[in-house]
Amino acid sequence: VVVAAVVLMRRVGPGGLELGYWVRSDRAGQGLATELAGAAAEAALALPDVERVEIHCDVANGASGRVAAKLGFTLDREVDDEVLTAGESGRLQIWILRR
Ligand SMILES: CC(C)(COP(=O)(O)OP(=O)(O)OC[C@H]1O[C@@H](n2cnc3c(N)ncnc32)[C@H](O)[C@@H]1OP(=O)(O)O)[C@@H](O)C(=O)NCCC(=O)NCCS
Repeated sequence: VVVAAVVLMRRVGPGGLELGYWVRSDRAGQGLATELAGAAAEAALALPDVERVEIHCDVANGASGRVAAKLGFTLDREVDDEVLTAGESGRLQIWILRR
């Protein structure tokens, strides 16, 4: 049974990796995302060609933004984004942690 997942994606340009995370709703609020995402960010920044990790989340996704802030990411900018699901606002926050 999968209760949580993290992924690192090479789609934010040279020197960067995008970090994504999901936790099954019945296990949310227990610190799982923060723990797993923190470990993944640390591993990513240990790679020789990676100088920053980015978290992209909708401004309406307060829990995701909170995870980024708790891990020491800085809110870099907000950009317009396609609305793909009902809960999304169309504004995307880009959080960055640099080595
Ligand atoms: C976002 C998600 C990964 C968080 O997982 P989690 O294991 O519950 O996260 P944590 O328990 O580590 O931390 C959650 C933090 O958000 C806070 N939080 C929860 N709901 C919140 C909200 N609506 N607004 C602001 N903060 C919120 C919690 O209080 C906690 O912060 P705290 O430790 O300071 O109290 C999970 O809800 C999820 O899988 N959501 C769907 C997928 C998703 O949005 N992924 C991110 C894509 S960018």
